[in-house]
Amino acid sequence: MLEVTSGLSLQQTAQLAQLHVTCLPETAIGTLGRRYALRVYEYLIQSPFERIFLEQQDDRLIGAAVTSEDSVGLFSRLRSQTSLTWHLLTGVPSRQRWRAFRTLTESGCPPRIVFDYPELVFLYIGTAYRRRGIARKLLVMSESSLRDSGNRHYFIRTRDHPSNQASRFYASQGFTLDMVRDGIQYWIKSI
Ligand SMILES: CC(C)(COP(=O)(O)OP(=O)(O)OC[C@H]1O[C@@H](n2cnc3c(N)ncnc32)[C@H](O)[C@@H]1OP(=O)(O)O)[C@@H](O)C(=O)NCCC(=O)NCCS
Repeated sequence: MLEVTSGLSLQQTAQLAQLHVTCLPETAIGTLGRRYALRVYEYLIQSPFERIFLEQQDDRLIGAAVTSEDSVGLFSRLRSQTSLTWHLLTGVPSRQRWRAFRTLTESGCPPRIVFDYPELVFLYIGTAYRRRGIARKLLVMSESSLRDSGNRHYFIRTRDHPSNQASRFYASQGFTLDMVRDGIQYWIKSI
């Protein structure tokens, strides 16, 4: 398990983008596809606000976590620093494009905790490697890094749906469900 501190090879970045799109197809970045996800990770790797944690096995990327100390500004940073507008306009069919746009702009009117606390913005483990404690280990690493930066709480958002396995994971890891708004659950954890 490692924190990305000094860049990744193009091959590793491409693996990260691919795993994100495969594991999180419903998210805005998943909807916009692998090529756009690659642009996002190229940006996140050198961003001062985000940190990336990886789990690898035999040179193969099998899971990742991304924290942000400015998740409310992430959309506008992606708009100015990546080819987001071009991908929204040309990259996907119009129905998916609208869904991706809505997901991205939902952070335009966020509840209070979004301003107060850092966020674990992405967490995903390859399907073949789930239920082996990898996400739990990535959380421990992310939390230790957030704590070292002076944070005492952080939060995550996930879809409010009975089939969402992530809710069961967060409940098992000491998060408290703070609120549900517009189909999104907001979970907070003290660290
Ligand atoms: C949610 C996810 C990150 C969990 O990763 P994981 O590595 O399988 O989780 P862990 O093995 O560390 O699980 C730790 C504990 O969480 C709980 N848990 C994890 N997945 C669960 C599931 N599908 N159902 C019920 N409980 C679950 C269990 O208590 C588990 O402990 P146990 O295996 O000893 O019972 C993974 O399923 C995933 O990537 N899902 C798709 C992407 C996603 O939804 N990401 C979150 C978006 S907000």
